[in-house]
Amino acid sequence: MSYSIAIDGPAGAGKSTIAKKIAKKLNFIYVDTGAMYRAMALFMIQKQVDREAEELIGTICKEADITIVYENGEQQVILNGSNVTKLLRTEEAGKMASFVAKNKNVRKKLVDLQQKMAKTTDVIMDGRDIGTCVLPEADVKIYLTASSKERALRRYKELVEKGVTCDLDEIEKDIIARDEQDMNREVSPLKKAEDAILVDSSNMTIDEVVERIIDIFRKKMK
Ligand code: DC
Repeated sequence: MSYSIAIDGPAGAGKSTIAKKIAKKLNFIYVDTGAMYRAMALFMIQKQVDREAEELIGTICKEADITIVYENGEQQVILNGSNVTKLLRTEEAGKMASFVAKNKNVRKKLVDLQQKMAKTTDVIMDGRDIGTCVLPEADVKIYLTASSKERALRRYKELVEKGVTCDLDEIEKDIIARDEQDMNREVSPLKKAEDAILVDSSNMTIDEVVERIIDIFRKKMK
């Protein structure tokens, strides 16, 4: 039997940073499902597919072979034989991912892959539909959120640290637009599962959130 923890929430809530830390502490595998949608987005960008071309996206997604491997505990995404992990964290890939993620064929393909991964290993998986759709039987479900102001500020600091010039208001606008799109799509929109625990990280440190979730998991397993 394997254990699973599902973490859902809007862009920039800190899901991946937190899930990675929890995975290390509990010796679970961290599955970043957003990276799979980003890889699919990259495939569409490479093929010069328009982000509004719903039908075409639904057809040619079948040609994208996406597999996940782990190197030194870090998830690597392989797209048609090439390791594309380093190309996935751009704003362009993120925006396109939010469009391709609306497509039901894309979702079916990636959800199947995610469910297979969780069958055999202890996983902590983050995304938008993990508690509601991918792992409805997860041992612990968390809905991790933070105000759009706080999420924008975190992203702003991250970019400034990397030496990128950016505008805080623009970042917040982009975050709100992405929330809108992820929460209002027809197929598996982002929403809190009824049995998920809401964690608002606006006024919490990363380590506080990590401890809180581990505590919830341990209490549940008693
Ligand atoms: O978490 P992220 O920013 O890497 O996700 C990129 C996009 O992928 C996001 O805008 C919505 C989509 N996504 C999704 O629809 N379902 C998931 N389980 C994960 C991501």
